[in-house]
Amino acid sequence: SAIYLKDYRPPAFLIERTELAFDLHEDRAIVEATLHLRRNSGVGAGEALVLHGQELELLWLALDGRELGEGEYSLAEDSLSIADVPDQFTLSSRCRIRPQDNTSLEGLYKSRTMFCTQCEAEGFRKITWYLDRPDVMAEFEVSIEAEKARYPVLLSNGNPVAAEDLGNGRHRARWHDPFPKPAYLFALVAGDLRSVDDSFTTRGGRQVSLRIFVEEKDLDKCDHAMISLKKSMRWDEEVYGREYDLDIFNIVAVDDFNMGAMENKSLNIFNSSCVLCSPETTTDKGFQTVEAIVAHEYFHNWSGNRVTCRDWFQLSLKEGFTVFRDAEFSADMGSRTVKRVEDATVMRTAQFAEDAGPMAHPVRPDSFIEISNFYTLTVYEKGAEVVRMIHTLLGPEAFRKGSDLYFERHDGQAVTCEDFVLAMEEASGTDLGQFRRWYAQAGTPLLSVGGDYDEDAQTYTLSVRQSTAPTPGQPEKQPLLIPLAVGLLGDAGNLPLQLEGEAPNVESEDNTHLVLKVTEAEQQFVFSGVRERPVPSLLRGFSAPVRLEYNYSREELCALMSRDDDGFVRWDAAQQLAISVLQEVEGQIREDQAARVDPLYLKACETLLQDTSLDPAMVAEMLRLPGEGYLAELAARRGGARVESIHLARETVLKALALHAEATWLEAYRRNVVNAPYAPVAGQIAARSLRNLSLEYLALAREEHIALARAQYASAGNMTDSLAALRVISQRGTDAQRDEALDDFYRRWQAEALVVNQWLQVQATVPGEGALARVQGLLQHEAFDLRNPNKVRSLVGGFANGNPLQFHRADGAGYRFHGEVIEALNTSNPQIAARLLAPLTRWRNYAAPQGAAMRTELERLAALPKLSPDVFEVLSKSLVD
Ligand code: ARG
Ligand code: ZN
Repeated sequence: SAIYLKDYRPPAFLIERTELAFDLHEDRAIVEATLHLRRNSGVGAGEALVLHGQELELLWLALDGRELGEGEYSLAEDSLSIADVPDQFTLSSRCRIRPQDNTSLEGLYKSRTMFCTQCEAEGFRKITWYLDRPDVMAEFEVSIEAEKARYPVLLSNGNPVAAEDLGNGRHRARWHDPFPKPAYLFALVAGDLRSVDDSFTTRGGRQVSLRIFVEEKDLDKCDHAMISLKKSMRWDEEVYGREYDLDIFNIVAVDDFNMGAMENKSLNIFNSSCVLCSPETTTDKGFQTVEAIVAHEYFHNWSGNRVTCRDWFQLSLKEGFTVFRDAEFSADMGSRTVKRVEDATVMRTAQFAEDAGPMAHPVRPDSFIEISNFYTLTVYEKGAEVVRMIHTLLGPEAFRKGSDLYFERHDGQAVTCEDFVLAMEEASGTDLGQFRRWYAQAGTPLLSVGGDYDEDAQTYTLSVRQSTAPTPGQPEKQPLLIPLAVGLLGDAGNLPLQLEGEAPNVESEDNTHLVLKVTEAEQQFVFSGVRERPVPSLLRGFSAPVRLEYNYSREELCALMSRDDDGFVRWDAAQQLAISVLQEVEGQIREDQAARVDPLYLKACETLLQDTSLDPAMVAEMLRLPGEGYLAELAARRGGARVESIHLARETVLKALALHAEATWLEAYRRNVVNAPYAPVAGQIAARSLRNLSLEYLALAREEHIALARAQYASAGNMTDSLAALRVISQRGTDAQRDEALDDFYRRWQAEALVVNQWLQVQATVPGEGALARVQGLLQHEAFDLRNPNKVRSLVGGFANGNPLQFHRADGAGYRFHGEVIEALNTSNPQIAARLLAPLTRWRNYAAPQGAAMRTELERLAALPKLSPDVFEVLSKSLVD
C-alpha cells in the first residue's frame, strides 16, 4: 500500500554505532548485528522499537546482552517490534540469509563468483534487522569472514583496520567507516578480484589511494575509468570546492546489477558495463557513459553521502543535483553543445513521455508504493533540469555561494529539497517562492509563444502562454517560474535586445541573449529598437524542461538552423523541420497519396552536410531523424499513433534524404575517416559519428553501398566502427549478409560479455516478420541469461524500444512475448520486471488495434497471482480509467 510524504515523522530511535559481522558460505551467510540505539529525544516517547527486515531467518536476539525469548518481541511480515525498551541500549541479532539464491539483486547477493551488495533504496533490510531509513545515520564497523581461496579480497566502507588468517582456510577483514551514514550506503564485496591502482593528491594534500577491482580477465579495461575518476576529483575541487575525505576510494565492477552504479561510501559498486572500457570492445558512447557515471558516483560523496536525504521522497535532492553536476562535468570534458542536445533529447523523448503517462509524478513525489519505481527520468533528469534552472536564474557565482552554504550548513545531515532551495535563496538573495512549484507539480509545461513585429514602432512583442495538462492526482496546475532564454535573429545575425522599460541588457557581451522570466499564465515581453522583422530564437540552450510551440514557417526554421548563434536552437530547428516534414508525409501515406518530401528540407540538410566549418558531431545530430517512439508520442496528441504509417513516413524521408544528397553523403563518409590511433576524444568521436551516420544513409540510397558497410566491418579497428557497420548490415543488408556478419561477430566476441550484449541488442532490432521468433530463439541461446539485467535490457528492452514495427505487431504477439518475460521476472527480479513494463504503459498513445492489445496484455498481467509491489504499482496505475 502507498506511503505519503505528508506522513513523514522523524525516527523514534537513532543508531549511533552499528557493528556487523558477516560469515560467508556457499549455502548461507550468517549476519550478526549489534546496534547501539537510543531514543530520539522529543519523538514518540515510550514507543515500541520497530525494525525493518525482509526474508531474514532470525536465529538469536538479545537486548543489552540478554537473550530475548519469543514472548518479548513480535515478528510480522516485514518488521520486528520490541514493545518495552530503555532509552539507550544495544540490540544484537543473528540472522541467516541466502545470498546464493538472491536473484532480486538487492541486499547481499552473488554475482558470478563474488559476493556483493546493493542497499539503496531499501535493500539493507534484506541483510539484517535495522532502521532502514536514510535519516538514521550510524558509524559502521564491519567484519567479514570467508574462505580465503575463493574470496581473497574482502571489502567494506571506510578504512581497513585488521586482516587475520583464521588458519582453517578462512580469513577475516575488519573495516571502519568514520562517517556516520544511512544503511543504504553500506557495501560489502568478497571475491577473487584484482585491482588497478593509482593515487590522487587532494588540494589539501591528502594522498588518496584509488583502486578499481575487477576479475582478472578485465584488468586491461580499467584505464579509462581511472582517468575519469581523477578528472572528477579535480573538477569537484575546482568547480565546487569539494575535496575527498578518506585515504581510500575503491570501485568494484560486478556483472549482475540492476542499475548503473552505486555511490556506497568509499566503495562504489558498478555495473561492469559502466566501468570497463577498451577501444576494441567499447563504443565512443560507452566511453562517454563510463566517464559520466564514474563522475556521478564520485560526486555523490558530497551530494548524497556527506549531505544525504531525509526520506525517499527527497531522492532528487541528491540525484537531480548530482546529475546536474555530472552533466556540467561532461560538458567541460567534451563538447558542451552536443552534451546539451543529448540531454535535451532524453528529456523530450523519454522524460516527457513519463510526464504524459500513468506513472507521472513530481520531481519530489508525494506518494509511492515501491520506491524502486521512482528512480526515474523525472527524479534524475528533470530534477537536474530544475537545478540547472536555479543555476540559470542565480548565475554561476551566486549558485556556487548557494552550494557552499548548502554543504556547509548540512554536512552530516539528512535533509530535504526545501533545505537545498533555502540555501540557494539565502546565499543569493533571490526569491525562489514560485520556483518551488517545480518540485511539487508533475507534468510538462507547454509554452505557446506568438511573435508580433510592429514596423512603425520598431517593437517586437513575444506573447507567452503557459499551461500544464492534468496528471494523475493533480487535476489543477499553477503557473511556474520558467526561465525562457531568447534571442532575435535578423538578416545579418542575432540582433541586440532591449526590453521595453528595463535597464539595458548586459547579460551577454554582444547583448543578443536574454533570459525572460515567465511567471504568469499569459504574459507579454516587448522589445524596442528592433529594426527588422526578426525570427525569434526560443528556449536557447533548452533553458527549461518545457514543450515550446511557435508557429514557425519552414523558411524561418531553415534560417534558425543555419544561422542562429545558439547551438541548441540550431539543432532544435532542424528537428522541428524534420518533424513537420515527417508529419506531412505521414498524412500523405494515410490518405494514399504519393509521398512528397519537401525539397526545401532536403536542400537545407544537404547544405548543412556540405558545410565543413561546422562541428561534425552537431551536423550528425541535426541530420538524425527523430525516432519512431518520439513520433508516436507526438502523434498521441493528434489522435493516436499509427505505428505502420509512422514507420513508413520515416523510411520515406530517410530514403529521400539519402538519395537527394547521395554524393554529399559519400563525400562526408570519406572526409570523416579517422586515421589517428583510437582515442575517445571529442574530435575523433565527432568524425566517427558523422561518418557512421553517412554510412546509414548511403546503405539506404543504394544497395551497392552495403559493400561500404561490409568493408568497414572487415577492417574496423574499434568497436564504434565495427558495431556501426554491423548495424547497417543487419538493418539494410540481405538475409545472407546479415547472418554472416552476426555469426562472425559472435564468434569473434563470445568471450566478452559486454560485447555479446551489444550483439543481442543488434539482433533485437533486425527488421522483418521473423524478428519476434529470432528474439524468442535468443532467450534460449547460451549467451543469454534471464538473471542478468544487462542481457535482459539488451535483448528484451532492445526489442521493445528498438524494433517498433515488430514489437507493435498488429496481432499482439510482441506484447504477449514481452508480458511473458515480465511475468517470469516478477518473481525473480521485481525491479527489472517493473522497468520493462514502461513501453506497455503508453497504451493510451496508440490507435487500434495496438492500444487495445497493449491494454489486454497489461490486464492479463494484473490478474496474475502474487504480483510484486513493484509490478503491482505500475500495472495498477496504468490501468486506472
Ligand atoms: N544511487 C544510485 C545512482 O544513481 C542508483 C541506485 C540504484 N537504486 C535502485 N533502486 N536500484 O547513482
Ligand atoms: Zn545517483
